[in-house]
This record gives sequence, C-alpha cells and structure tokens, in this order.
Amino acid sequence: MQSANAINIGHAAALINNGHLVSFPTETVYGLGADATNDKAVAEIFSIKGRPQFNPLIVHVDGVAMAKQEVEWPQVADTLAKAFWPGPLTLVLPRKADSRISLLASAGGDTLGVRMPAHDIALALISAAAKPLAAPSANKSGRVSPTSAQHVRAEFGEALTVLDGGACTVGVESTVLDLTCATPLLLRPGGVPKEALEAVLGVKLQTLQDKAATLKSPGMLESHYAPALPVRLNVTKPLPTEALLSFGPAVPSGARKVISLSDSGDDREAAAKLFAALRVLDSQEFTAIAVMPIPESGLGSAINDRLRRAAADRST
Ligand code: TXA
Ligand code: MG
Repeated sequence: MQSANAINIGHAAALINNGHLVSFPTETVYGLGADATNDKAVAEIFSIKGRPQFNPLIVHVDGVAMAKQEVEWPQVADTLAKAFWPGPLTLVLPRKADSRISLLASAGGDTLGVRMPAHDIALALISAAAKPLAAPSANKSGRVSPTSAQHVRAEFGEALTVLDGGACTVGVESTVLDLTCATPLLLRPGGVPKEALEAVLGVKLQTLQDKAATLKSPGMLESHYAPALPVRLNVTKPLPTEALLSFGPAVPSGARKVISLSDSGDDREAAAKLFAALRVLDSQEFTAIAVMPIPESGLGSAINDRLRRAAADRST
C-alpha cells in the first residue's frame, strides 16, 4: 500500500498508461481504475471483480474539458457540473462518435457515465495519466464498497497497487443521473441528494419507478447494445450467409466473414473485443451473427450473458 505523494502518483499513472489497474481514493469510495481507452485494461477490471455481467463503468475525468472530449455536453450538464463538480454526481450522456473510451466500459452502449471526483489524489492521478479512468468501486462483485485503503487490500491482496488517501469522506457512491431522457432520470441515489439536484434544475427528476410504470416492460430500461441481426449461439457449422464470431484456434470454415474474439481462447482478450466485433458484424450483408461456443469460465459467463440477451427475442 502506498501513501500517496507525487512520486507514487507518477508511478501509478505510468502503471495505468501501461494497461495495469490501480486502486485510488475518491470522496465516495475507493475505485478500481484503468485507462478507460484501453479495452484490455477495462476487461481486466471485470475479470478481477468477478462480475457475472458487463455493467457500464463510470468514467472519471479531471474536469469538464476532459468530459467534453468523450460525451455530448448539453446546457443542463454545464449547469449541474457548475453546481456539483467536483463531487459525487455521475452524469450519463451520449457518447461522442469519436470518443476513445472502450466500448466495454459502456457495456457496448451509446452513453457514458462521467464524473469528476472531489479528491486531490484522484484528480492528480487522472491528470498525470492524461486519460479518463474507468473505475467501479474496488470490491469483488456482491461485496460492500471499500472506504479505506485497508478494505481494498483485504479484498485484492498485495498484487494490486493502492494509493492510500485515508478514509473516504462521503462513504456512499455517487448519484447517477441520466441526462439522455427528456426529463433527467435518477438511476442511482447517492452522495448528491435528489432534492439538491431538483433545486438546481428547477424540475422534478424522473425515477426508475416512474419510468417502469409508463413502459410495457421494465426490461426496456436496459440501455445496452443489442445487434439488429439475429444472433445464433453455440454454432459449430456456420451458414455461408452468416458472419461468424469465433473463439479459440479451431475455427470452422463456411461463414462469409469471421472475426476472432481470441485465437488462443483467452477470456479477457475476448471480452475486450466483444462489443467492437458485434458492431462490425452487425451489417445487412449477413443473415445472422453466428457465435462459437464460449466456455463459462472467467469472463466467459459475462460474455455469454450478453450474447444470450442479444440472441433473445426482442419483440418486447
Ligand atoms: O462513487 C462512485 O460512483 C464510485 C467511485 C469509484 O467513483 N464508483 C462506482 O462504480 O460506484 P460502480 O461501477 O460500482 O457503479 C457504477 C454505476 C452502476 O450502477 C452503473 O450501472 C451506472 O453507474 N452507470 C455507469 N455508466 C452508465 C451508463 N452509461 N448508463 C447507465 N448507467 C451507468
Ligand atoms: Mg459498486
């Protein structure tokens, strides 16, 4: 564990830029950070957290200028950033077409959650790395969020570099607010109270309960990417009209086009490539995306979870 100083922050930034993970303090909870533009580093986050699904990750920035490089920035974002940044407020905004952020960090979706943490060490690390950092809370999936460097160490052991900034002052995660709807939608209550947001915006926020009540199926709330083409799973014999997503060295012949998720059968490499590959193959040239069997081990279960949902009936 490293008490944070300029040398350690420089070292941690170099680790980040070389594709490694670093845990850093924020005012809410400790984050498990990676270069948000590096697909493999982002896949490593999911891998070591043991998340069974690819949930979108918050992208941490050192200011509005860095955020504006990655997301569309409407007036309402400016108003909220002026009032609450740096601080425990994550804004979900449309990702820019030329955003460099890994598609895996947004679970393949067209939006990004961005936030500027109110913590000198976090801000110094982001600035030194000169990259936005994707960071979920630094706990294993299903465990409570860490509010001290000791908590992170207990969870992940000596191998992970942890910048020690003492205890987190807020102690609960950031409020997540979706600004891509007509009325801002509260996705997760957190460090900035709903009432404070409503006072600044002069409108009542929509909640997930309101939204679910107006929809046929709450499943429609999922903002995740699904391809337009049908998806066929566990394919060992692709059709000549199909595009094939292959996994491992033994690739069957016959498909019109093949993209390999990993020639060696590596789950992290496959996760890193998954969403970009789906987007490339999701073209009218093909009748379907055929996917080879992917073992459930490691990130395989999260990959299969996403593919199963892509393959499921979308009439709802
Ligand atoms: O306070 C925090 O937010 C901490 C610190 C480290 O910044 N981070 C954190 O990350 O709590 P995580 O991954 O444990 O939770 C992120 C939440 C999830 O509920 C996720 O679904 C939501 O933010 N989120 C992130 N990006 C999103 C997006 N593009 N659309 C919808 N929800 C998003
Ligand atoms: Mg969490």
